[in-house]
Amino acid sequence: MPSLNSLDYGTPKRESETLVTLEVDGVSVSVPVGTSVMRASIEAGSKVPKLCATDSLEPFGSCRLCLVEIEGRKGYPASCTTLVEAGMKVRTQTDKLAQVRRGVMELYISDHPLDCLTCAANGNCELQDQAGLVGLREVRYGYEGANHLKSVKDTSNPYFTFDPAKCIVCSRCVRACEEVQGTFALTIDSRGFASVVSPGQNGDFMDSECVSCGACVQACPTATLMEKSVIDRGQAEHSHVTTCAYCGVGCSFRAEMKGNEVIRMVPNKDGKANHGHSCVKGRFAWGYATHKDRIKSPMIRKKITDPWQEVTWADAIAYTAAEFKRIQGQYGRESVGAITSSRCTNEEVYLIQKLVRAAFGNNNVDTCARVCHSPTGYGLKTTLGESAGTQDFDSVRKTDVIMVIGANPTDGHPVFASAMKRRLREGAKLIVLDPRVTDIVDGPHVKADFHLQLRPGTNVAVVNALAHVIAAEGLLREDFVAERCEPEAYARWKQFVLEPRNSPEATQAITGVPAAVVRGAARLFATGGNAAIYYGLGVTEHSQGSTMVMGIANLAMATGNIGREGVGVNPLRGQNNVQGSCDMGSFPHEFPGYRHVSDAATRALFEGEWGVPLAAEPGLRIPNMFDAAMDGSFKALYVQGEDIAQSDPNTQHVTGALTSLECLVVQDLFLNETAKFAHVFLPGASFLEKDGTFTNAERRISRVRKVMPPLAGLGDWEVTVELAKALGYPMHYESPAQIMDEIARLTPTFTGVSFEAIDRLGSIQWPCNPQAPEGTPVMHIHEFVRGKGQFVVTEFVATQEKVNQRYPLILTTGRILSQYNVGAQTRRTANVAWHDEDLLEIHPHDAEERGVREGDWVGITSRAGETVLRARISERMQPGVVYTTFHFPESGANVITTENSDWATNCPEYKVTAVQVSLVSHPSQWQEQFQSFTREQLDLVEQRKPVQAA
Ligand code: SF4
Ligand code: SF4
Ligand code: SF4
Ligand code: FES
Repeated sequence: MPSLNSLDYGTPKRESETLVTLEVDGVSVSVPVGTSVMRASIEAGSKVPKLCATDSLEPFGSCRLCLVEIEGRKGYPASCTTLVEAGMKVRTQTDKLAQVRRGVMELYISDHPLDCLTCAANGNCELQDQAGLVGLREVRYGYEGANHLKSVKDTSNPYFTFDPAKCIVCSRCVRACEEVQGTFALTIDSRGFASVVSPGQNGDFMDSECVSCGACVQACPTATLMEKSVIDRGQAEHSHVTTCAYCGVGCSFRAEMKGNEVIRMVPNKDGKANHGHSCVKGRFAWGYATHKDRIKSPMIRKKITDPWQEVTWADAIAYTAAEFKRIQGQYGRESVGAITSSRCTNEEVYLIQKLVRAAFGNNNVDTCARVCHSPTGYGLKTTLGESAGTQDFDSVRKTDVIMVIGANPTDGHPVFASAMKRRLREGAKLIVLDPRVTDIVDGPHVKADFHLQLRPGTNVAVVNALAHVIAAEGLLREDFVAERCEPEAYARWKQFVLEPRNSPEATQAITGVPAAVVRGAARLFATGGNAAIYYGLGVTEHSQGSTMVMGIANLAMATGNIGREGVGVNPLRGQNNVQGSCDMGSFPHEFPGYRHVSDAATRALFEGEWGVPLAAEPGLRIPNMFDAAMDGSFKALYVQGEDIAQSDPNTQHVTGALTSLECLVVQDLFLNETAKFAHVFLPGASFLEKDGTFTNAERRISRVRKVMPPLAGLGDWEVTVELAKALGYPMHYESPAQIMDEIARLTPTFTGVSFEAIDRLGSIQWPCNPQAPEGTPVMHIHEFVRGKGQFVVTEFVATQEKVNQRYPLILTTGRILSQYNVGAQTRRTANVAWHDEDLLEIHPHDAEERGVREGDWVGITSRAGETVLRARISERMQPGVVYTTFHFPESGANVITTENSDWATNCPEYKVTAVQVSLVSHPSQWQEQFQSFTREQLDLVEQRKPVQAA
């Protein structure tokens, strides 16, 4: 069903500098070569009827509704499949065309239920519109003959229905699933009159390969595929463009509304990160925003065993400020801190770090990026000079060799995975470094040319072996390196990688990757044309996370694969605003724009704007905060939008630290796991309730727009402003736009960024300044941000987390498409239909050794703790490695992860935990305690006392 406010040009836009000029209905129009007559006609202002064509799909030419007349040509060619030629004279509106089109439409309507008035698509149906456009007034054929009107509706998908009675077999859904999404879940079964759209082997949508991205629903011109939310609530009345609040792809959406109620989310065709596509989370899983579990009033309590007391905003702010002042008075300035969230906007994050530095008077601010991409910041800053990915997503269209390291894009970054798969279907080659056989390794119409199925924890040994082959076989781009990189560092690195101990043959025993596979992959990467690296948390969440990031940058520089389209180093960010939260100065050692707090000139700049002296010493990182809380020197913490009790490693250590605090303030949508230890709960606003910006994995700053008022009355930024005021440090902002103006004044990479500029340009990739007024899609083009590229020697150091007889398996963790991070949002949507518990994936061999069968309860024990999950036997695992997700708090995945972390940044080593797995019959002790603590805390919320009348 088409989106509100969008003009459909029928066929995709073509990219060419060569223009072709033709005449349509007497109007001259110039379009890029390769454009269809249909698109040119619509651009010229003519209305060409169409059904099987839509501008997100390649033309198909099946409905015959779009016929035109072309001077000098016989018959009536289909305008969607006919390409423009110079000097063509096209007529789209003649009596004969009208007659033919009416005849075609009559046939469609004769097999279509005439229930327009009660159809959910009424008023937004292409079939209805086109029938009107061709002037169909009567249908001569009766409904007595064979038809499809009694076909059974498939309602199995939680978010959309499939009503074959309304299908016109235009095949748009099938093509959307193939071309846009790349899943190939749909086919047209049978032929002629018997043709029918089929998900899988005549099953229903839920039993098929469908991943519920909704591309088919969006492409369908009738009510055959239809959002249930539209069926239930009717057509939308207005819309706002905003940005998805789930992953780091940062898809742009049109929130279609009726009053203050979201009717549906439609991916924005003009969105530069997603070009009109989405995944199940962004398109469908927004119901959490109005879920009954939302807490809408601030609450306070003295002890975590007390029931909560609802209070007014004013009282909650006054209480929080008084507690922070009391604690700083009693225990010192350094005894308090805050954690910012990668789910919050740039403006909100900026204000929190400003609150800490200017109002708390210390640098004790850290962010959840500590536990995901902090090594990216360190590694890329060291080697290239900027803590960010080098490309835009569209760059993949020019890539010949895609190397995916420690990332599972079909689950973690689905819309970018679709773009990547499209490029692979066009012929690009694929190298994957992953311990598991992920979908990208072996999926529909996509297969990795080389899968380096390494042992978890050996990334650096593999990257060194790849570099060894490239150096030893003379495949280095010496010319590029000589021009662009520091020669001495390069010479040291080259000498290092050439050492025989780094050869694939020497490292094979450590990594488990056959030498021949490493050699093949290295040759392909170095010689296959434009090569680009995309990586995820499988790179960063290791004891050598930063080393590996630098190893990746080394590889890109050594092969000249940086500084132009189609190449580069691309971290795939987990949460929507990981890039932004880092950019905004969330780390304890850096001001916004990655400038060290010890730098006097930077401090002077911020002191000038903020009007207070600022501390020159870096503050506490998250793990230091926990340790200091346990030591008794850290007493108050403000956590905005993060659930550290679930997401951070070694849960028992984290909850021990939280219990030691005298004042824990949690600002969130729900009473999350961390809030169960809190003394103050401040209700947060969902992305639908806030104005601001998110910055995605390609440094793209996009607007988030308020489509409904905050359910708790205040936006998150307003709460911070009030709290700062109560602490004696007034902040003066009227709107988030003013906060962005301040960021731009203080941050050289943001000087050209403003809400006005983003609204004008759609989105902006930083750096955006006088040198790049419209932003920077590709970085490091002529020189690296740091000047010369810096090679770094990346010695492999095995993790301390060793397997032994007691803990013989390695546990590694990841995520799944339908759930998101700690699951607080997606668990409160119908996405649980796909994944309602975390499972332990185990190889058949390891399962058999332990007598474990599919679905059995198994205990997973590590040096840190124990938990119990059900087993899934899976050939995707390699023997010796088990895997789980961490979306459900009761799973306790982080009860077993350890406190080992990256040497440079303390990013936890989530990806390597030595464990034993054994059959059990009851939950772990931790799980039993968790259940009873959770029951107690939910009771305390239930018993909360309402706000006292003034
Ligand atoms: S379900 Fe919709 S898009 Fe698919 S063939 Fe039928 S009418 Fe066309
Ligand atoms: S929802 Fe997506 S994956 Fe499922 S059939 Fe439609 S296009 Fe294919
Ligand atoms: S790919 Fe990411 S940003 Fe896009 S819709 Fe899905 S979750 Fe949202
Ligand atoms: S729109 Fe051209 S043949 Fe269907």
